[in-house]
Amino acid sequence: DEVAGAWDLHPKKHPATREQREAIFNRLSFGVDYTDHMAHAVYDEGKGWHSKVIEPYGPLTLDPAAAVFHYGQEIFEGLKAYRHDDGSIWSFRPGYNAARLNASARRLAIPELPVEDFLASIVGLVRADADWVPSVPGSSLYLRPFIIATEPFLGVRSARRLDYLCIASPSGPYFVNGFQPISVWVSPDYHRAGPGGTGAAKCGGNYASSLVPKLAAHEEGFDEVCFLDAATNTNVDELGGMNVFVVYEDGSVSTPVLTGNILEGGTRGAILQILRDRGNVVREETIPLQSLIADIESGKVAEVFACGTAAVVTPIGRIAGEGFDVSVTGGDVTKSIYDQVTSIQLGHAPDPYNWTYQLSA
Ligand code: COI
Repeated sequence: DEVAGAWDLHPKKHPATREQREAIFNRLSFGVDYTDHMAHAVYDEGKGWHSKVIEPYGPLTLDPAAAVFHYGQEIFEGLKAYRHDDGSIWSFRPGYNAARLNASARRLAIPELPVEDFLASIVGLVRADADWVPSVPGSSLYLRPFIIATEPFLGVRSARRLDYLCIASPSGPYFVNGFQPISVWVSPDYHRAGPGGTGAAKCGGNYASSLVPKLAAHEEGFDEVCFLDAATNTNVDELGGMNVFVVYEDGSVSTPVLTGNILEGGTRGAILQILRDRGNVVREETIPLQSLIADIESGKVAEVFACGTAAVVTPIGRIAGEGFDVSVTGGDVTKSIYDQVTSIQLGHAPDPYNWTYQLSA
């Protein structure tokens, strides 16, 4: 039961009461409430990662010259802890998140965090805050690990001191309406990433640059923005924080191929595996927006959906942009994928892939 290299626990003196937690559980949305503790470690050049602790959640005191404030040297991850019916707590592919954090680290000149440390931080945090894992249907404890450059230095080079933290947030559905079709606005002129850029890394800057186009989408009355590739402005890349799938009438399924500009989603990978094992023809390929629109209009496309850790699997019911506005009727595949992914996560279905990882008894 002991985790390799368990992190020291510095417990909070006055953790939230059951009543306080339950008041939060009764009105869960995404990313607004936080638990009693956080995982924290420090990196110093020459010393490596040290001072690994689970400590009371609270504000950080940082030097105003900390590099993260100036040059955005920052990466993050997103994963969830789920309560199973027997009360045990499980995560979904945390090793994948650990590996992706390190892939992002390499792109942002950030020192890698050993996978054992990533896993021990999550196990330690979730065990300290086990009472914060909700069991309301559709809810989970969202975990947000991140690394920031905290060395006070205004020269442009990789920082010699950084902090790793993981915070936890009891969460409900990412979209307020849950499993209901969302509408998507294709940004005509903004891109989230270009060739050689940071599109494949999970860094704050990618999301900061998505805010203006996302605002434009909201002003047009849409739920999300869809980005085209920066090189040609013709192919579907991804949404503001989710990957995209297209389901065709013949049962085949496509998703944009990983070009280096797309974030390689863990949910995306799981869905590809599930569909292949179901015998669907699956293609990771270039999806030109014009063919997607034509195929929706001709009825060749049956369903379009978005996926991500936060968004899980969410149907897309309408796609519009300059000069087009198409509706997708929808069908059973999106729902069946949603059901299979969430059933594995919640321990309601067998997990032949070993994706689930026990955090606490
Ligand atoms: C996630 O799905 O976990 C993400 O990090 C995406 C973010 C838009 C919430």
